[in-house]
Amino acid sequence: MEQIVITIANHSHTHFAEEICEVIAASAAIRGTGIAKRTPEYIRTKIENGNATVALVGDTFAGFCYIEVWGHNKYVAHSGLIVHPEYRNLGLAKKVKEFTFNHSLKKFPDAKIFGITTGLAVMKINSELGYKPVTFSELTDDPKFWQGCQTCTNFSILTSKDYKMCLCTGMLFDPAKQVQKKQSWFNKTIVKLIKDKKQRLLENNKKVTSWKK
Ligand SMILES: CC(C)(COP(=O)(O)OP(=O)(O)OC[C@H]1O[C@@H](n2cnc3c(N)ncnc32)[C@H](O)[C@@H]1OP(=O)(O)O)[C@@H](O)C(=O)NCCC(=O)NCCS
Repeated sequence: MEQIVITIANHSHTHFAEEICEVIAASAAIRGTGIAKRTPEYIRTKIENGNATVALVGDTFAGFCYIEVWGHNKYVAHSGLIVHPEYRNLGLAKKVKEFTFNHSLKKFPDAKIFGITTGLAVMKINSELGYKPVTFSELTDDPKFWQGCQTCTNFSILTSKDYKMCLCTGMLFDPAKQVQKKQSWFNKTIVKLIKDKKQRLLENNKKVTSWKK
């Protein structure tokens, strides 16, 4: 059994940048879907800035994902999720994405997290993490993000639809809504506990009353 280690990428991982780009490009070609092209320089910057997650088996790269920051820290996107073909279908993408998600929540606690994808695996993983499908109008309007789509084969579709829709599905995780949800769950639970307690007290009181009689 090989041990897979997932960690925040650092300077010692920059030499994986070329291989990561090659595997992303090769996988997109096989899938026949569009994908924004990444350069090794871009990947290296993400690694150097502590905005990337890497999965390793010994000295071999097994998985990768990085964080992009948009709209003055209002939004972050988790992009470039890739698992080396040798390590697919083991649940590794899920682990890498979850690790990146938690790292991102700590580093950018107020940012909405989003992604655009054509991949079912990514949609499944995102849904499990609490993302909701949204229209592009809910995502960042930072033009630099959308410029990244220029290298995708479907870019003409995006522009013909005035950046409102494309083949990708937009998915969004809003931490503020999660807090509200948790709070509303907490409030409901507290109200229910108080109701139950009152009810029990009343019942006990009734029992005592009837016993006294
Ligand atoms: C997509 C990719 C990251 C999945 O990696 P993986 O480690 O094999 O995925 P996991 O084992 O964690 O699977 C996660 C879920 O997705 C499902 N899944 C995995 N590959 C899938 C595929 N090709 N099609 C549909 N569902 C898939 C799994 O069954 C699992 O679902 P479950 O929780 O219901 O069991 C990997 O195949 C890859 O790197 N592909 C090329 C790059 C790519 O497509 N990236 C996404 C860019 S949008």
